[in-house]
Amino acid sequence: EQIEKGGYDHFMLKEIYEQPNAIKDTYRGRLLANQGIIQMAGLEDNIEKFLHADRIMIVACGTSWHAGLVAEYVIEEFARIPVEVEYASEFRYRNPIINKNDVVIAISQSGETADTLAAIKLAKEKGAFVFGVCNVVGSSISRETNAGAYTHAGPEIGVASTKAFTTQITVLTMIALRLAKAKGTLSNSDFHRYLQELEVIPEKVAEALASTNEKAKEIATKFKNATNCLYLGRGYNFPVALEGALKLKEISYIHAEGYPAAEMKHGPIALIDEQMPVIVIAPKQGHYDKVVSNIQEIKSRSGKIIAVVTKGDTQVKGLADHVIEIPETSDALSPLITTIPLQLLSYHIAVLRGCNVDQPRNLAKSVTVE
Ligand code: AGP
Repeated sequence: EQIEKGGYDHFMLKEIYEQPNAIKDTYRGRLLANQGIIQMAGLEDNIEKFLHADRIMIVACGTSWHAGLVAEYVIEEFARIPVEVEYASEFRYRNPIINKNDVVIAISQSGETADTLAAIKLAKEKGAFVFGVCNVVGSSISRETNAGAYTHAGPEIGVASTKAFTTQITVLTMIALRLAKAKGTLSNSDFHRYLQELEVIPEKVAEALASTNEKAKEIATKFKNATNCLYLGRGYNFPVALEGALKLKEISYIHAEGYPAAEMKHGPIALIDEQMPVIVIAPKQGHYDKVVSNIQEIKSRSGKIIAVVTKGDTQVKGLADHVIEIPETSDALSPLITTIPLQLLSYHIAVLRGCNVDQPRNLAKSVTVE
């Protein structure tokens, strides 16, 4: 087992550090940035289904559902196709309205999640075309779907999903870009810019790993005894807030909630006092000014602010108790970077609390029962 961990203390940490290469493996042969090409066999063969879809319905569970939420933002923004995202466990039992003009995307690392599998079967019965985004080759979900694209992240052993999340987002972003090209919904220059930016994401993830790990460890020592944490983000980084909170609760057993930052004033703000760590994802792009005013609201209630900011940011630095700087990328691709310090923060907190990081209590790597 020590050998399999490749010198890391835990599989989770190894898998966090594998992300630059995992993302490269995901887009290898599919993203040819200099030639302006994005191609995935499973998508090319069925692209008409996507282009004529009334809408895309995404079904998944847990972290994969969070990747689906990122995809909702990216596909709608780039390709202008309506997207809905649903927990597979809800979808399968609520008699959903699905028809043959719908495309269903099922996302699953393991390809064995019982609820996702059942949702796929239901969607197929109703005549939808079902596309899988899976990691495990030959898994039940990859066999049950009509077509799909593998993430090629390599085996993920840690129960807490890390590289599966970022590689799912990579595949889904490539799908969005390919559809945008076919539909002409992105300008040529934007399309080429996103391809170039996606190509350098592995380097930026590597930079984020190198530059944020120590800081995450230092912050972890300060907050390891917290009983609650709030994670806030907006736009593309709202799902990252949910994912950050899930990561913390599953491996450290600290209660955590993710919220869209603006929703805070509709309830969670009542929780904020000097005991409450609030992790705010505040990269310079997107809704930066809005997030800064959310940070001010937390500060005026004495919450402890940990902010994930773009390198060189000065405004948030003046307000937050701790800042974690990450490399800059465009808003739509930022979840691939902002998620890195949140994974590391959860990891270090869990280690400091003496938790079983790779096999947290009550959890299984794939949930094959409902
Ligand atoms: C994430 O850290 C969890 N282990 C869990 O939420 C997981 O993402 C979920 O069970 C879905 O699994 P799947 O991707 O294998 O379908």
